[in-house]
Amino acid sequence: MAAGLLATGLGACANSDTGSGGGGNDDGKIVLGFSQVGAESGWRTANTTSIKEAATEAGIELKFDDAQQKQENQIKAIRNFIQQKVDVIAFSPVVESGWDTVLKEAKDANIPVILTDRAVDSADKTLYKTFLGSDFVKEGRLSGEWLLEETKSATGPVNIVELQGTTGSAPANDRKKGFAEAIAANPNLKIIASQSGDFTRAGGKAVMEQFLKANPKIDVLFAHNDDMGLGALEAITAAGKVPGKDIKIITIDAVKDGMQALADGKFNFIAECSPLLGPQLMDLVKKVKAGEQVPERIETQETTFTQQSAKEALPNRKY
Ligand code: AHR
Repeated sequence: MAAGLLATGLGACANSDTGSGGGGNDDGKIVLGFSQVGAESGWRTANTTSIKEAATEAGIELKFDDAQQKQENQIKAIRNFIQQKVDVIAFSPVVESGWDTVLKEAKDANIPVILTDRAVDSADKTLYKTFLGSDFVKEGRLSGEWLLEETKSATGPVNIVELQGTTGSAPANDRKKGFAEAIAANPNLKIIASQSGDFTRAGGKAVMEQFLKANPKIDVLFAHNDDMGLGALEAITAAGKVPGKDIKIITIDAVKDGMQALADGKFNFIAECSPLLGPQLMDLVKKVKAGEQVPERIETQETTFTQQSAKEALPNRKY
């Protein structure tokens, strides 16, 4: 526990929600500083809820900061957490690169750091204790493998457009890689356009509109998350095409709205990415605070959904 310290410089945080007290805690509670990416998607909203609920449940004091999808805001928030001498820092890095300096500052201050959801590309693995999150390459690969099977009898080119997530983010880099590696097994499968929609519905819609204008024959959309796929649905329908039939749609996440679109036949396949990281994160926070060894990588267990399995899973979907 970091006791009795004043919160300083907190005004520099974007959209901070620091809970009770400021900087340390006198009642024996562990203080966790968490820097969230933003609120760009249904996945992110569910992830924030999971973290806040799990912190309350675990009796951990949470200092929560929303970085509004800006790396500079995350760096500011982490520096504020260091200044406040929180016990543990956790964050979901908006992009992979550019963290070494601030992570070194946390290490020098003896504050353990946990990465959740997204990785950093730092060569020095001692800058953080563990990384809890999905295997994004696998999610891309499972999406590509589904398409391979689906198009195995195609005799001509299958034109694919790709809506990428936030440029430079681990899920955008890794999902692109996994998908491309899988579809390389069939030379008929071609990515004819690929652009970032920043993981948002508005971005997905706007980029899909451009894709449709520029490309008369689109057979498949691979969207790096449900929200961009949902935005793209509007553009596809407005262009007079039938989503799920004229254009097959593959997405990642499996949030409720995405699962509904899949069950309704508008999407064709979803690779799951679970946002429910809160309970595991709080467990890790307690362990690193106690000086216990934790595995350097903890991978989230996930599945995939077809239209039929989405119909079955939807009534019990929590997010
Ligand atoms: O990092 C996880 C990704 O970020 C989710 O797939 C996406 O929906 C979110 O914005």
